[in-house]
Formats: sequence, structure tokens, C-alpha cells
Amino acid sequence: MHPVALIPTPDALPVAWGWFQLLLLPTFFLHILLMNVMFGAAFIALVSHLRAPADTTPCTAEISQKLPFTIAFAVNFGVAPLLFVQVLYGQYIYVSSLLMAVFWLSIMVLLIAAYSLAYVYKYRFAELAGWRVVVAGLITACLLAIGFCFTNNLTLMQTPAAWSRYFAQPGGLLLNLVDPTFWPRYLHFMVSAVAIGGLALAAYFSWQHRRGMADAHPWIRYGCRWFGYATLVNLAIGLWFLLALPAGMLTLATGAGRFFLLLLTGGVVLALVAVRLGFSLRVMPALACALGTLALMIGARSLLRTMMLAPWFSFDQLPVVPAHGPMVLFSLFLAGGLVLIGWMVWSALRCPPAGEVRP
Ligand code: HEM
Repeated sequence: MHPVALIPTPDALPVAWGWFQLLLLPTFFLHILLMNVMFGAAFIALVSHLRAPADTTPCTAEISQKLPFTIAFAVNFGVAPLLFVQVLYGQYIYVSSLLMAVFWLSIMVLLIAAYSLAYVYKYRFAELAGWRVVVAGLITACLLAIGFCFTNNLTLMQTPAAWSRYFAQPGGLLLNLVDPTFWPRYLHFMVSAVAIGGLALAAYFSWQHRRGMADAHPWIRYGCRWFGYATLVNLAIGLWFLLALPAGMLTLATGAGRFFLLLLTGGVVLALVAVRLGFSLRVMPALACALGTLALMIGARSLLRTMMLAPWFSFDQLPVVPAHGPMVLFSLFLAGGLVLIGWMVWSALRCPPAGEVRP
């Protein structure tokens, strides 16, 4: 069967597609940033416990306290891009989700397991002692499995030619491991999470240092080293990813190809600057460059999806049936929500260090 026959007809959009792309990119940036902090922190805690199973360091103690928050934020900030990606690419992502339905639905189970274990890790940290490595290991494994499912779905959605494999394997268990970009893409995401997780720790301890913590310095250095070495490893994985891309993606012959290479080059240059700043413990400038890299890489990823789907799809094909009312209402609620979140964060930051109130 020709793959085109498997692509459903897209639903009409209420406003031009550009609005949804404008909402997708920043919300995905926030999701990936928070996912990085969450996974990176869990992984770093696991490695610390593997090195010294019974030791309590300020780093693992802080991670144990903050991990449930990072999971909650990463998940909640995942919902927004999920909505927008479904609006723009519904006819692709609904199909790929069905083809791998068992894995896709298992995300909920894995997430509940990771979240529950994160609370065990937080509230039983002292009693767990040598078992911390087991709990941190299980959390990390669940998060790794969730990332695996996401990469599977997002690579499958952009390769309709692979969908006809469903007829040989109709049980909702379709994996996209034959795609040469699968492993480098997945590793690129997970290693970048370790890097940003390390930098987040460095930023957290330099904030604590400014608030008077005496022994913060070794942990700032520790976080910066995780960031620097993981980013250097990721440069090699990124190269593997580039070499695995289908022919015609890395080209100066098309506007999209040129823009893709521009974003990629900018991202790599900023990453190298960030690594240098990180190794010299200049945390905030390193963070600014790392966030710039993340933004440019997300732009490159989006452009890559457009180029990969070009044989099947272009945004101009999406029908628009104007309905501005819901969009205006949505924008008003979005603005109100952002103001409230800003106020909440501002209030939380003004809280004294031991200011958490628990029943
Ligand atoms: C259930 C809560 C979550 C939702 C709703 C969600 C949503 C999303 C969405 C919509 C995307 C793709 C956006 C796009 O292509 O433009 C994405 C990508 C991704 N998410 Fe999440 N996410 C969730 C939890 C997680 C967790 C817990 C992880 C843990 C590691 C994770 C890891 C990833 C990764 C690695 C990608 C990139 C995959 C790729 O492009 O290859 N997500 N997520």
C-alpha cells in the first residue's frame, strides 16, 4: 500500500498555522528544559549513589528534595506542546501513536511509577541509606523508558513510509529502531539532559552560595564538570546524528537546508562557548549560552521535521476555517496564567530558606 493512503485528512485550523508554530516552539523549549533538569538530576544522583552508596552529600540531599517538583513541572509543561503538535501534525502523530499504542500508553504507568518513587526518595531519603541507589536507579530507568517512547513516536510520525510495517505487526508494538537516526537522536536528547541537569545544579548551588551557604563551591564545580563533559560527549553524538540523516537534509541548495545549517552551526558554536565558560565556573554566562544552544537546536529540530515531511506535507495544505473568538479567549487565559505563575515564582523566591509550610 502506498503510504499516502495511510495519512488521514487534516482537520481545519481556526487561525493560520504560524500561530500554532509560534506557541509550539517556546512551550516545547520549556518542556525540554524542565525534562533536562529532571532527568539530569535523577541521573547525577544515581551516579553519586553508585560511587558511594551510603554517603549523603548536599547534592543528593538537594536532588531528593527537588525531584518531585521537577517531574511535575516537566510533565505539565509537556501538555502544551502536545496540544499544539496535535493541532499542526494531528494526521501524523495520531497515526504514529496508534502504531505504537502499547508503548505510548505505558508512558502513564512509567510516569506514575517514577513520580511515586520520587516521593519515596524525598520523604524516606535518610531511612533508605544503601537502597537509595535502587530507588534512584528505578526512577532513572522509568524516565529513560519514557524518553525512548517519545523519540519512537516523534521519529515514527515523520516517516510515513515506515507505517505500512503495521500490517505485518498490528499489535500496537511498532518500534522505529530501523530508522538510522533513532539511537543518535535519543542519546542526543538524554545526554543533553545530563549536561543541562549538571548546569542546573551548578546554578542552584551558586544561588545558595549567594544566600550564604558555606560549602557550595565544590558543588558548583561538580555541576559544571557534568555539564562540560556531557556536552563534549554530545558533540560526538550530534555528529553521529548528522551523519545518520537521510540524503538531502544537509544541503545548501534549498532555503530550509541553509537555515537548518545556520541554526545548527550557531547551536554548536554557542555550546562550545558554554563548555568553556562552564569549565571556568562562570555559571550564569554558561547558562545563558546553553539556553541559546537549546533554543537554536529546537529550531533546527523543527525545521528538520518540516524537511522530513516535505514529500507528504506542507503547512499550506492545512485548511483554515477562521474562528478568532476561541483564540482570543485562549490568549487571554494564557496571559492571565503567565502573570499568576510569575507572581507564584516571585512569592516563592521571597520565602525564607526554611519557609516551606507542611501540614
Ligand atoms: C506525560 C507528560 C509529558 C508530555 C505530555 C510530554 C509531551 C511531549 C511532546 C508533545 C513532545 C514533542 C513536541 C514536538 O515534537 O514538538 C515531547 C518530546 C519529548 N519528551 Fe516529553 N512529555 C511528557 C513527559 C516526558 C518525560 C517524563 C520525559 C522523560 C525523559 C520526556 C522526554 C521527552 C523527549 C526526550 C522528547 C523529544 C523526543 C524527540 O523528539 O525525539 N517527556 N514531549
